[in-house]
Amino acid sequence: MLANDETHVFYRNPFTRYPTVARGEGPYLFDENGKRYLDACGGAVVSALGHSVPEIADAIKAQLDRVEFAHTSQFTNPSQEELARLLAERAPPGLNHVYFVSGGSEAVESAMKMARAYWVQMGRPDKWMILGREQSYHGNTLGALAAGGNRWRRAVYEPMLFKAPRVAACYCYRCPFDKTPDTCSLPCADDLERAILEAGPESVAAFIAEPIVGATAGALVPRDDYFRRIRQICDKYDVLLIADEVMTGLGRCGTWFAIDQFGVVPDLICLAKGLAAGFVPIGATLVHDRIIETFHRRRNVFQHGHTYMGHPLATAAGVAVIRYLEQHRLVEASRTLGDELIGRLRGALGGHPQVGDIRGRGLFVGIEFVADRETKTPFEPELAFHRVLGDAAFANGLIVYAMGGTIDGRRGDHVLIAPPFIVTRAQLDEIVELLVRSIDAAVAEVGARQ
Ligand SMILES: Cc1ncc(COP(=O)(O)O)c(C=O)c1O
Repeated sequence: MLANDETHVFYRNPFTRYPTVARGEGPYLFDENGKRYLDACGGAVVSALGHSVPEIADAIKAQLDRVEFAHTSQFTNPSQEELARLLAERAPPGLNHVYFVSGGSEAVESAMKMARAYWVQMGRPDKWMILGREQSYHGNTLGALAAGGNRWRRAVYEPMLFKAPRVAACYCYRCPFDKTPDTCSLPCADDLERAILEAGPESVAAFIAEPIVGATAGALVPRDDYFRRIRQICDKYDVLLIADEVMTGLGRCGTWFAIDQFGVVPDLICLAKGLAAGFVPIGATLVHDRIIETFHRRRNVFQHGHTYMGHPLATAAGVAVIRYLEQHRLVEASRTLGDELIGRLRGALGGHPQVGDIRGRGLFVGIEFVADRETKTPFEPELAFHRVLGDAAFANGLIVYAMGGTIDGRRGDHVLIAPPFIVTRAQLDEIVELLVRSIDAAVAEVGARQ
């Protein structure tokens, strides 16, 4: 452990004492004291293959031996060419072009700027607005933060954020329109039309959404027909659809792309996290033919770029990750093991008085907690139930992605469970057992404080 006054690191949370990680192996991390942690969320839904996979490390080392870096304004490199081809072959039809960056926020920034540049080239320079949804997260750079709907993350920076009207979340457990599955006519999707009309269709460039909402709301799965309605509304008003798959992409939800499960083709897809599975930082924006064609027709370049885009080490890792996923049939594994995990969680926690909802797709599972199951009343935000639970789990050697503000940026608590796709069934049992124990400890602790 580092004492905070003995370090020069500006930590995420300077009031926390972080253990020092020493090594990783499969789904486990070990700290310098030898304590073992079952990493059931890949950090922040990053480590799709587990830790220290020799095949990925070897691919990075081999690239390092050939050349470590060549700026993309001067050279292309074989691994970025190959990774772009592999992604285009697996992406929804038409998304054949890949713009590489270094992380999720950069992928989102690139997508939003590309949408804007597209409309300028189409002779519609008034189209600049990006609409997002309540309770969404698209990254922490200013543009991505502006498009996102997570209030506590935005609060301090609010005056610096561009105007991005927001659309209702598709949140069936707490429907903002008080609908039930029987009475639902998708008013949350129609809310996009309201927002476009209010903003003025002539000024809206794109709508951005996570196919399954991750960090802010804990694996919110939309109704099967939600995105088809969204696509129709986007088409009606000439609005591009950006699928932010930074968390959900590359097999996490049991298909290469989560949007594949909803029967629509977006215009742009943002990727990061699972793309190099945490071995190196990478992000990518997948771009539809019709957007690229506007650049080509006008012989324009996309006015954007970052120093490390298409970095050979990152793209070499990406190629190795896709090959590994395929060789070991891990996208399928994510689907089947995800179903099993949800089944086990429902079995163990379905009747728990503090568990309101268990949801997700593939190995991307959320649990929402409540103080009262009948009324769905959340815990008081001051109790920070999610933090107490996250800490209890960590102490028990289980890492989960615990977050608060599930309902509106302030109220509500959830955890994301997103183990690597190589997780075994015995390890799924271990996750469930440690989680149940941690939930009971957290409930007891907040109970004692009340
Ligand atoms: C859906 C989504 N988009 C974008 C981001 C931002 O990615 P990064 O932290 O790599 O910038 C995240 C990060 O959690 C995310 O979940």
